[in-house]
Amino acid sequence: MTELPTSAAAQAETPVEPAAATEQRPVLVVDFGAQYAQLIARRVREAGVYSEIVPHTASASDIAAKNPVGIILSGGPSSVYEEGAPALDTGVFDLGVPTLGICYGFQVMAQALGGEVAHTGLREYGATDAAVTGDGGVLLGGQPVEQNVWMSHGDQVAKAPEGFAVLASTGATPVAAFGSDERRFYGVQWHPEVKHSDYGQNVIENFLHKAAGLPADWNSGNVIAEQVERIRAQIGSGRVISALSGGVDSAVSTALVHEAVGDQLTAIFVDHGLLRKGEREQVENDYVASTGVRLVTIDAREQFLSALEGVSDPEQKRKIIGREFIRSFEAAERELVAEAAADGEPIRFLVQGTLYPDVVESGGGTGTANIKSHHNVGGLPEDLQFELVEPLRTLFKDEVRAIGRELGLPEAIVARQPFPGPGLGIRIVGEVTADRLEILRDADAIAREELTKAGLDGEIWQCPVVLLADVRSVGVQGDGRTYGHPIVLRPVSSEDAMTADWTRLPYDVLSKISNRITNEVREVNRVVLDVTSKPPGTIEWE
Ligand code: XMP
Repeated sequence: MTELPTSAAAQAETPVEPAAATEQRPVLVVDFGAQYAQLIARRVREAGVYSEIVPHTASASDIAAKNPVGIILSGGPSSVYEEGAPALDTGVFDLGVPTLGICYGFQVMAQALGGEVAHTGLREYGATDAAVTGDGGVLLGGQPVEQNVWMSHGDQVAKAPEGFAVLASTGATPVAAFGSDERRFYGVQWHPEVKHSDYGQNVIENFLHKAAGLPADWNSGNVIAEQVERIRAQIGSGRVISALSGGVDSAVSTALVHEAVGDQLTAIFVDHGLLRKGEREQVENDYVASTGVRLVTIDAREQFLSALEGVSDPEQKRKIIGREFIRSFEAAERELVAEAAADGEPIRFLVQGTLYPDVVESGGGTGTANIKSHHNVGGLPEDLQFELVEPLRTLFKDEVRAIGRELGLPEAIVARQPFPGPGLGIRIVGEVTADRLEILRDADAIAREELTKAGLDGEIWQCPVVLLADVRSVGVQGDGRTYGHPIVLRPVSSEDAMTADWTRLPYDVLSKISNRITNEVREVNRVVLDVTSKPPGTIEWE
């Protein structure tokens, strides 16, 4: 293999900005340090306009260099009065770019433009009645006068800047929105990006399409065309490999690269035996049929089972599974690299399904706000010596799914709920054996089938099915006593898996699942429902 930088080093050396997925100029969302910026960026894209997130520490010239067609200042956790409150280079307001301030961003804007922000002690949290003032201007024009908005603030704008009209008020906040059609600057105290604000998306769309005059022309179709071009430019005539896990991100990134460079790509799929029923076939048959990708499957089932023999401790299991995965992947990679070198075409590139939230949470490539680092997102070895190809780096999960559909991938893969890398290995509480895997696979398949049949897939984030392999309880089946294992159903609702609540599934669906599992799966005589939120329980049992 040629001497190339390691993947981590390669990441560090790549340009700091995530490569724009589009030649279109972006709407920039300035992040004041809360969770809101990502949601705003998603809403902008839902309106058909490309958006990117920048930290509030970006200077006016950094921002100007990105050629923005609109700027949105996000909410944030601070008060503008606090010492060290996140500030903005006020030169941003001299760029002549249409700007919308939201919550904290609204107050930052008011202060910078000569208005007044007051610490009145009056707070508004959650659903609040707002009244549109006058004709509502470009931002709120045409909307109902009375509307429900979602607030979360302590300070408030006491006086709008000179030349700005007050566009809305609430009981506690006389200046709840303002705007200047002449300067194309607007602000709202509430959060239009959350679904609880009745006309929230309408506010964002009015700003984008009417105030900033931007067309709704950004969609998954043009992302594919642009990415294909980029990938071709990066890879040229080189060869590339990709680790396919069966999950959405690796499936879509692999399909995009295949669309761009065809048989220069080889996908590697490690069957570690901890997959659910039908998953290997889904990849080997349906995925390959829909993409035409060249696939190498590594059958590592025996290898994983023997490495897991006698191990019950969850952390130890995870470590073993991670280690064996790397071993199998590296063995496949060495073989392919040797084969390719014999043809005189070394493999230089590795595909990764890194998503935009991973990039943003790793500091957005800007060196700030490093919440967590996502190197080797697919759990691949750190010292793999490849240049990374990351075609999803600017995309959110729902956009990735849309692209997958556009590329013709099977719905069963595109709509897949999250499934952990260590697979069923961490859903068997106790030692992992071939027999136990068989029991769990059968029970899991029934639960999934019934949930899908009941049309509940969209309502649940995921539903781990867990086998308590070291627990037995007494039952009666037919006329005989049984001494079988319990199966736990763990349906959860969540936005991001950081917190979750248990999903209130209809009783008749639960009953159907329980009946079928206890009738059809030997060894299982009891089905129980996990009614714990996260925290305190995690989603997976191990
Ligand atoms: P927990 O159990 O921590 O899970 O509440 C949160 C989310 O992460 C998934 N998960 C994993 N995904 N490798 C993964 O790729 C892992 O080791 C792993 N452990 C948990 C879990 O399914 C849930 O979506």
